Amino acid sequence: MRFHILTLFPSFFDSPFQSSILGRAVTNGLVDIRLYDIRDYTLDRHRTADDYLFGGGSGMLMKVEPLARSIEAVRENVAQESSVEASQRAPVILLSPQGRVFSQAIAEELAVQEDIVLICGHYEGVDQRVREHLATDEISLGDFVVTGGEAAAVVMVDAVSRLQAGVVGDPQSVALDSHSSGLLQHPQYTRPRSFQGWDVPDVLLSGNHADVERWRRQQSLLRTLQRRPDLLARATLSKDDVKFLAEHGYSGLDGTER
Ligand SMILES: C[S@@+](CC[C@H](N)C(=O)[O-])C[C@H]1O[C@@H](n2cnc3c(N)ncnc32)[C@H](O)[C@@H]1O
Repeated sequence: MRFHILTLFPSFFDSPFQSSILGRAVTNGLVDIRLYDIRDYTLDRHRTADDYLFGGGSGMLMKVEPLARSIEAVRENVAQESSVEASQRAPVILLSPQGRVFSQAIAEELAVQEDIVLICGHYEGVDQRVREHLATDEISLGDFVVTGGEAAAVVMVDAVSRLQAGVVGDPQSVALDSHSSGLLQHPQYTRPRSFQGWDVPDVLLSGNHADVERWRRQQSLLRTLQRRPDLLARATLSKDDVKFLAEHGYSGLDGTER
């Protein structure tokens, strides 16, 4: 899978894409991350990528032409390396606090793409024509504003990359993570068994696999009920899950198995 990141600050990505699991995925060729410096696609000798707002107002806005030209460069690269169809298929995602809010479901939706183009805004953001005519999607990291789309791009590339086969050692662990299963993950412990009187629950040391699994499922349900009850409405729940939740005071289920 290839990510094509359009940015005014390519060096922002040096460390995140060279470290840890993502760095290994890049080295092993499981994920290909290409950076496009938007200034390379400007049209004047000052490499101007932003300009003042029509109508007045503070701040600078990223211009449409360099972005249009950098997207064209991505499409040409993809067309050469894959096919013209692949270059047309690639989603062009504008990172923006005004987009649909990123989630595990969106990460899964994007994980099947061969190429993804990410536009990192900066300053006041981008000219409206980028949104209307160049981007095919607009995604937000959440209801807050950061200074640039670069931080959001790192998060998205990470979340989508870890769904690629081979990026995370044990695919089972990805499937069991919070949100993948529709619930929050159960508590986890490692050695020592006891630290300052804080003990690991006995059931985890019992060696009884069925008991451990039941405890984990129930803890996962409880944690979700306590912290994110909104997730329960969409989760896949067994009859036992429904019964357990009802015993713990959850009244939002009609008792049917989904
Ligand atoms: C300071 S923000 C511009 C905000 C813009 N004036 C607005 O109110 O919608 C600059 C850039 O940071 C990125 N950005 C800021 N918050 C974001 C968020 N929650 N999710 C994704 N990108 C974000 C976008 O690329 C945006 O163009």
